[in-house]
Amino acid sequence: MLIFTLLIFAYLIGSIPFGLVIGKLIYKKDIRQFGSGNIGTTNAFRAFGKAGGTLVFVCDMLKGMIPVLLASYLDVSWHPLLFGGMAILGHSFPIFLKFKGGKAVATSFGVVLAYHPIFALIAIASFFISLYITSMVSFSSIFAVAFALALSLFYQDWVLTFVTLLVFILIVVRHKDNIKRIRQGTESRVPFGLRKSQ
Ligand code: G3P
Repeated sequence: MLIFTLLIFAYLIGSIPFGLVIGKLIYKKDIRQFGSGNIGTTNAFRAFGKAGGTLVFVCDMLKGMIPVLLASYLDVSWHPLLFGGMAILGHSFPIFLKFKGGKAVATSFGVVLAYHPIFALIAIASFFISLYITSMVSFSSIFAVAFALALSLFYQDWVLTFVTLLVFILIVVRHKDNIKRIRQGTESRVPFGLRKSQ
């Protein structure tokens, strides 16, 4: 019963569309009307600026961290990453937004940060190296999760590898339009790094 409750809780907390909620409550803006139309961190930076973008990132990340930490704290018999996986599914397919959610990057980072901080910090370092070189958040997100997948093999934690593989597939699918733009050379760049936007 506890496991079932925790799974539902993880999905529901993951479903909270913080990009939309913060935009409406604080900035009186609908994030879906800006930039890529996505409800996640990158678009929050575009729509609300640095403070709003950071706030959305922290909240989306916490959505991933909390279920994993709770599962570990309550010492449930199922693997903590399964609860993190439910939060990621909630973020990407939120019940509150007719299952049209975000691209799962910040929430997935929160899940691995709670589960294995060193692993998460190495993965985010690969993200920032890629971001510095390409100035593209979308490319760097895909690169970082691919890097994390390879890295997970060294830890020989097969649940981590399996969940990272599923996240990789989800992130690639969710970045379908970004990948098209990257191939066409029209993907938006951030004002950071070697190829930063002007
Ligand atoms: O966090 C999502 C990022 O990888 C891409 O976001 O808004 O540029 O499609 P966006």
